[in-house]
Parts: sequence; C-alpha cells; structure tokens
Amino acid sequence: MQVAQSRARVHATEVIDRREPAGGVVVIGLRASALAAATRPGQYVMAVPAAGETPAVALGIYEAEEERVSLLFFIAGKRTRELAMLRPGDALSLLGPLGNGFDLRASDRDVGIVAGGVGIASVLLPALELLRQGARVRLFYGARTAALLVERERFERAGCETILTTDDGTAGSRGFVTEALANAQMPKLLLACGPTPMLRSTAEIALRHDVRAQLALEENFACGVGGCWGCVVPITGASAQAPPFPPTPNGVVYARICREGPVFRADELRW
Ligand SMILES: Cc1cc2nc3c(=O)[nH]c(=O)nc-3n(C[C@H](O)[C@H](O)[C@H](O)COP(=O)(O)OP(=O)(O)OC[C@H]3O[C@@H](n4cnc5c(N)ncnc54)[C@H](O)[C@@H]3O)c2cc1C
Ligand code: FES
Repeated sequence: MQVAQSRARVHATEVIDRREPAGGVVVIGLRASALAAATRPGQYVMAVPAAGETPAVALGIYEAEEERVSLLFFIAGKRTRELAMLRPGDALSLLGPLGNGFDLRASDRDVGIVAGGVGIASVLLPALELLRQGARVRLFYGARTAALLVERERFERAGCETILTTDDGTAGSRGFVTEALANAQMPKLLLACGPTPMLRSTAEIALRHDVRAQLALEENFACGVGGCWGCVVPITGASAQAPPFPPTPNGVVYARICREGPVFRADELRW
C-alpha cells in the first residue's frame, strides 16, 4: 500500500462550471491546474466554504484534468450547503491534494470498484486510471433510489461495466451493493469507498475470497491534516502505514484516516 503523500498546499481556485446531477447533489468545476497536476486517484481536499468562518470540509477529488478539478458533493449540512451556493466566477480555497490515494501500480487486470452514496466521488479517477492501464473495471454502485445513482453514465461512457443496486429497487437489483458483489464473479482487486457498513462488508467478502482490497474510509474530520488525532482507526502494527509509535500488546497501532489514509488495505484494518 503506497504511503507517500503529495505536497499539499492551499490552492486559490475559481468556479468555472456547476451542475446538479440530482436534487441535493452538486458538481462544481474549478480552475486549478496545479492541483489537477498533483492529484493521485483517491486523494481529497479540504474545501473552505465561501462564508470564510465555517471550518473546512473534506471532499474527494472527482475529476482532475488539465486546468480543471471538480468536486461532487451531497448537500448534507452547513458546509456543503454553503459550497452549493457557489456560482461560476466565485473563489474557493482548497487545501490539497491530501491523503495517500489508491495504490494502482501493481493492479490486476480485473478490478471491482464498490461505491455507495457519496463514495462515488472518490472512485472516478481510479476507474479512469485502471481503464487507461487496460484493466476490466466493474463498478458495483449502490444508492437509496434510482435518482441518487448519479454519474453512472459517466462511468459507462469511460468503459466501466456497471452493476447497480438501490434500496427501493427503482434501478438495478433491490438490496445492498455488497450483496451484488457477493453474487458476482470475484475480481482480482477490489477498491471501495462509501459508508462504513458497506466497507466492512466489502472487507469481509474480500477476505473470504482471498482478494486484495483497498478501502477509502470516511470519517468526520476536524482538522483534516493530521493534527488532532480525532479520526483514528486501528491497523496492524506491521502495516507500512503504521505511524511511528509502539503497537499495543495485541499488535495494533492507531492510524489517522486523514493523514496515513484515507485508503487502507482491508487485511490490515483491525476494526
Ligand atoms: C476523505 C473524505 C472524503 C469525502 N469526500 C466527500 C465527497 O467527495 N462528497 C461528499 O458529499 N462528501 C464527502 N465526504 C463527507 C463530507 O466531508 C461530510 O459529509 C461532511 O460532514 C459534510 O459537511 P457539512 O457541514 O455539509 O455537513 P455536517 O453538518 O458535517 O453533516 C453531515 C452529515 O453527517 C452527520 N454528522 C455530522 N457530524 C456527525 C458525527 N459526529 N457523527 C455522525 N454523523 C455526523 C450529519 O447528521 C449529516 O447527516 C468526505 C469525507 C471524507 C473524510
Ligand atoms: S482529522 Fe485531525 S488528525 Fe485527522
């Protein structure tokens, strides 16, 4: 699992486009060429909402190409509500790129990407990189209802096969996305981003089938840059991602999701 971090800095960006793929879901495109060039798949930014006094919010980097970076977010609370009010021409400061991202260097040719809800925002870049490397990429994508399966055409146009699930059965099969994964022919590598129960279930399936899996964890970040230790997760002390502290007697160390992660190997998590 790669642990190298890119050099993060504050980027003064400008909104250049904005759209709403579904009610309560926004994609904003930003002029940010230096950030686009520095971004690796699976990294994130801390976005400082326009009002200025609101704490920064962690968002995955959805697209990064040439001079444009985009962010895809669900309007959840105060900070994403403020970001949703931005219009072309408005300024936005982004600290990033942050985190380790997915390790796609030794990727197998048959990859499954598991995404639930907002997790979709962090998996387009790895999907594009894997397709560029010639891999077969299957996207297992779950949402509450059909309208919230946002951007699925974007993945299909790029060449991903999509396996869709919804809680209410309005698109794809009814049920959890991990049920669709469990019933599928197993890929050689799994990448996942989404709610914690989905990640835990993906990890169990991967371990059961002896498939490597990398999970992008999401936590409520306070500082987002490794300073407050408010986002820790237990991992094996033998992990390359273990921070330099002695492990507990049962061999566990606590890693910061924002700093050592957010992507961890499923077989190294001790949650
Ligand atoms: C690495 C990373 C990448 C992310 N990428 C994206 C992304 O690309 N797109 C996206 O939409 N979101 C993403 N998120 C999630 C996003 O950062 C959070 O949803 C964030 O809290 C939204 O801020 P807010 O002020 O709008 O909402 P908040 O007021 O923070 O509320 C967000 C939701 O979380 C609940 N909540 C708030 N605090 C807690 C708590 N302590 N415990 C449990 N639930 C709580 C609230 O009830 C609400 O439903 C990411 C998070 C991480 C850590
Ligand atoms: S959010 Fe502060 S250390 Fe991770």
